[in-house]
Amino acid sequence: MSAFAAMVKQMKALVLSGGAGTRLRPITHTSAKQLVPVANKAVLFYGLESIAAAGITEVGVVVGDTAEEIREAVGDGSKFGLEITYIPQERPLGLAHAVLIARDYLGDDDFVMYLGDNFIVGGITDLVEEFTRTRPDAQILLTRVSDPRAFGVAELDPSGQVIGLEEKPERPKSDLALVGVYLFTPVIHEAVRAIRPSWRGELEITHAIQHLIDARADVRSTVIKGYWKDTGNVGDMLEVNRTVLEGLDRRIDGEVDAGSETIGRVVVEAGARIVNSRIVGPAVIGSGTEVRDSYVGPFTSIAEHCRITDSEVEFSIVLRDSSIDGVGRIENSLIGRHVRVTTAPSVPSAHRLVLGDHSKVQIHP
Ligand code: DAU
Repeated sequence: MSAFAAMVKQMKALVLSGGAGTRLRPITHTSAKQLVPVANKAVLFYGLESIAAAGITEVGVVVGDTAEEIREAVGDGSKFGLEITYIPQERPLGLAHAVLIARDYLGDDDFVMYLGDNFIVGGITDLVEEFTRTRPDAQILLTRVSDPRAFGVAELDPSGQVIGLEEKPERPKSDLALVGVYLFTPVIHEAVRAIRPSWRGELEITHAIQHLIDARADVRSTVIKGYWKDTGNVGDMLEVNRTVLEGLDRRIDGEVDAGSETIGRVVVEAGARIVNSRIVGPAVIGSGTEVRDSYVGPFTSIAEHCRITDSEVEFSIVLRDSSIDGVGRIENSLIGRHVRVTTAPSVPSAHRLVLGDHSKVQIHP
């Protein structure tokens, strides 16, 4: 084993997948937000794969109300090449609280803390390598965002050194948001013990890192591009889906009949059926889904057990167990689970809608 691999081996990961079960905005569904699918794969899985790719094998996963759903999806971690230990958190008392309760698990090892609802394009291998080589007390990731008020925000001095961090400030001092991946040495344990809950009643990791900065610890930052977290913004979700699909390798494991065509980077999962249809990649069709007499266009993810019949779907996400039948063309859309989209009877000439909370519909008058 190389010296570097041996060092990384000692590093653990702490993945935060707790928190209350929230509505998968804008789709009305109680679910763990870490399981929101991007290109038909849970956002959390990309995080776990990045951790494995960085050479880390021991992972503590913090779970809350949705523990059962997370455990069912992730299992013992062997499918990712990881050894997973679940760490139950009785309530979502903050990111620093999660570190506090993971103290025994983490021991005196360095660790990467990864928020399970964050998506980092390009993974974390280079960061873990840099951290292991230079070993500051802590390293944070930053990215430029249009509305920093929804994030932790960093203030840097002209040399790029972090001088201050604020959690969800009303008047942000910069547009540099804290990304949900942090690299820590064990000095963080003393910091999480030193802080008090914030106005929102949480022990904030932002405050713990500020505590380190105030104690003149070496806190470094790296500015990254290619970052996404689920904010309930459909445009952002379609964009991240597009980015991931662009990296897809063509794979046809399902059935494509002689009357159908699949063009470019298309994934048809085992158990999916394409009948008399045209699929233009990048696009992914989940297992158990049937596409019949239809067109599926670029940048589209159709999840498992859907039926697309007599329709056209492009630049869209369709979640599992939904059907679209005979409705013409759908674009730029996010369709939730167990949704039925069908034609209306010709009289009366009216739209019939059953829409869940937070739904948005655009209709041609
Ligand atoms: O996503 C980046 C942002 O994450 C940072 O910019 C902020 O500085 C940081 O405080 C955090 O802000 P959020 O308010 O968005 O964090 P959220 O409550 O959504 O929790 C992030 C993840 O951690 C999510 O997967 C749920 C999990 N979590 C959260 C809390 C509060 C836990 O496992 N336990 C908890 O106690």
